[in-house]
Amino acid sequence: MPYKILDKSSIPEYLAGLPTVMEVLGKGEGLDIEEIGDGNLNYVYKIRRSGFPDRTVVLKQAVPYLRMAGEEWPLSRNRMTYEIRALHIYNDLVPEFVPAIYHSDEEMSVLVMQTLDSHTVVRHSMIEGVIFPDIGGDVGIFLAETLFRTSALGMKSVERRHLMDQFNLNDELCKLTEDFVFTFPYMEHESNYSSPVTNKFARETLRCDAKYKLGVLKFKELFLTKTDALLHADLHTGSLMANQQETYVIDTEFAYFGPFGFDVGKIIANFLLSYTSHFFHSRDDSYQNWLLVEAMSIWKKFEERFLGLWGLQGESAILIDGLLTESELAEYRQGFMLKILHDSIGFCACSLARRTLGIAGVADIRDIDDINVRSKLEIINLELSYLLMSIHDRINTIEQFESTIRSFYANINLDSLELVK
Ligand SMILES: Nc1ncnc2c1ncn2[C@@H]1O[C@H](COP(=O)(O)OP(=O)(O)OP(=O)(O)O)[C@@H](O)[C@H]1O
Ligand SMILES: [Mg+2]
Repeated sequence: MPYKILDKSSIPEYLAGLPTVMEVLGKGEGLDIEEIGDGNLNYVYKIRRSGFPDRTVVLKQAVPYLRMAGEEWPLSRNRMTYEIRALHIYNDLVPEFVPAIYHSDEEMSVLVMQTLDSHTVVRHSMIEGVIFPDIGGDVGIFLAETLFRTSALGMKSVERRHLMDQFNLNDELCKLTEDFVFTFPYMEHESNYSSPVTNKFARETLRCDAKYKLGVLKFKELFLTKTDALLHADLHTGSLMANQQETYVIDTEFAYFGPFGFDVGKIIANFLLSYTSHFFHSRDDSYQNWLLVEAMSIWKKFEERFLGLWGLQGESAILIDGLLTESELAEYRQGFMLKILHDSIGFCACSLARRTLGIAGVADIRDIDDINVRSKLEIINLELSYLLMSIHDRINTIEQFESTIRSFYANINLDSLELVK
C-alpha cells in the first residue's frame, strides 16, 4: 500500500483490511483509538475493540519529519523500516522480551504490535521508586542473546553479511547518534541544553580536557567503524516497559550493526542517571542500592549468558575447530569479554555526559524544576562521566566497576547538595 499518514479517522479502515490484526481485535461495533505516543519521533496509537478491553493492538507510524520539531525538520520515515526489521529479528531471537508483531508494512512505515497493557515505561516508574525484581537479569539476557547471535561468534559470515545489508542504510538515525551523542555535547553548540552552572562546569572541566575529549572520540570511532553485532542502539530506560514479572524492549528504530559495548554501556548509564536523580526524588539510599545492584546484574547476566551461548556454539565465522588449543581459547575468550567491559564503561561515560549536556536529557533530572538542585545533580553525572572515561580501560572486573561507583557516590557531600523539595 502506498504511503499515507494515518490518523484516528483513517485507522479503522486501514486495519479492516488486515486479517491478522482483525483476528486480535475481533468483530464488533467501533474501535476506541487513543494517541499515546509520548516520544519525540513518531505517532503511536492504542486501539481497542469497544467494550472488549483485552482486544487491543498498538499501531506505530513514522512520519517523514521529526514529530517534536514538526515538518520543518525532515527525517526520513525509513527509520520504521529498520524498526520493523529489528523487531522481526528480536521476535525470532528473544520473543519473551519484545512485543509480538501482528502486521508490518515498510511502504506505509507502519507497525501493528502487541499492546503492553499491564506494563509501564521503566523510566517513569523508576522516578516514582518502583522496584522491578528481575529487570537487570532480563536486560542482561536480552543483550547476550541479541548481541551474541548476530555477531561473528554466533553466525557464519555469509549469512551475517546478508543480515548486515538489511541495516546498513539506517544512515539518518546513525548520524543523529554521531552528532548528538558523540559530538555536540562536548563542544559549544546551539543544540545543547543550557544551564549556567552546569555549562560552566562543562566548559572548565570537560570541554577543555584533551584526554577526556580524545576518550570520547575513541568511542565515536568505534561507533562509526565497528560492526560487532546488531544493536538496539537506543536502549535506555524509556525503551523498557515492565511489570513485576516481565520486561519488554520497545522502540528499535535506531537498530544497526555496531560495537558490543554500546547497548550495554548505554542502559547501565541510564540506571546510574536514575541513581543520581534519587538524591532528590526519594532520597532513599535503599532504592539507589537496588538500582546499582540491578545495573551490575545487567553485566553479570550478560556475561554469563554470552559465555553460555559461546559454549554451545559450534563453528562460527571467527572460530573454526582445530584452530586453538583449550588454553589458547580460554585466553581469547577472557580478552574478548574484557574488551567488551572496557568499551561498555566508556560508552557509559559518553551516555552520562550527553544526557546531561546534550539536547536529549532524561526526565529523571531535566524535569526537576529547581535549577539549583538540577545543576548539582548534573554536575555529579558529569563527574562520574569524567571518572569512568579516565579509567575505563583499567577496570577489569564487574566487582571493580561496582566498587568504583560505590566509592564515587559515597564521597559526595550530601549536605552541600541542599536538595530541598
Ligand atoms: N507495544 C506497546 N504497548 C504499549 N505502549 C506502547 C507500546 N509501544 C509504545 N508504547 C507507548 O508509546 C510510547 C512511545 O513509543 P516509542 O518510544 O516506541 O515511540 P518513539 O516515537 O519512537 O519515541 P522516542 O522519541 O522515544 O524515540 C512509549 O513510551 C509507550 O508509552
Ligand atoms: Mg524511538
